[in-house]
Amino acid sequence: MEEQQKQVVSMPRIGDPAPKFEAKTTQGKIIFPDDYQGEWVILFSHPADFTPVCTSEFMTFAHLEQKFAKANCKLVGLSIDGLYSHIAWLRTIKDKIEYKGMKNIEVKFPLIEDITMSVANKYGMIQPGESNTQAVRAVFFIDPKGTIRTILYYPLSLGRNFDEMYRILIALQTADKFGIATPADWRPGDDVIVPPAGSCGTAADRMEGKEDMKCYDWFFCTKKLEEKEVLDAVLKK
Ligand code: BEZ
Repeated sequence: MEEQQKQVVSMPRIGDPAPKFEAKTTQGKIIFPDDYQGEWVILFSHPADFTPVCTSEFMTFAHLEQKFAKANCKLVGLSIDGLYSHIAWLRTIKDKIEYKGMKNIEVKFPLIEDITMSVANKYGMIQPGESNTQAVRAVFFIDPKGTIRTILYYPLSLGRNFDEMYRILIALQTADKFGIATPADWRPGDDVIVPPAGSCGTAADRMEGKEDMKCYDWFFCTKKLEEKEVLDAVLKK
């Protein structure tokens, strides 16, 4: 096989730089992740155009695009279909599909054509136990420096949870801005976790002079972080 045609198959990991690629999309050529420096981006794959679960997801992504944009996050989709299929599918969605109160939905974010599977392979989106010919439903959260911060993989039959994707985006940005961690099921307004300053000391030591902190034990302390503080820090005005 010619060097140029060799497929790189990899499974990127959290903390890795997002693998670079150039691709044709429904919105023109993109250079990834360089075109998104300084912004968060969610790169996601879907198995195939003109399929029902994917249609429900695309309509929901497009419906929520502005909500994600307000949190400084762009969306980029991918499947191993070609550009003409993408365009025809997105036109059908806009012209014909009314679903859960959503209609005339125009998908304005880029949808990558990846008929050679080169991007899908770089991002571990082809998982042969599930399908050799379709990408699984992968979601990569990439930060403004181009680092992968969270990865989700869903099988073909399972539509994604959009509340959770939005929650992840806000939680990652909150952790970065306030130097905290977020507990199970955290939502803005809930208490956040104060990372242990050191490995010793009692709960009482850690709470000393910090009235806003609650310690369950020396290794597990939380503090209040008001919803407004989170949203002011994370959302564009
Ligand atoms: C769907 O999007 O409906 C779908 C795609 C591939 C396999 C199964 C379902």
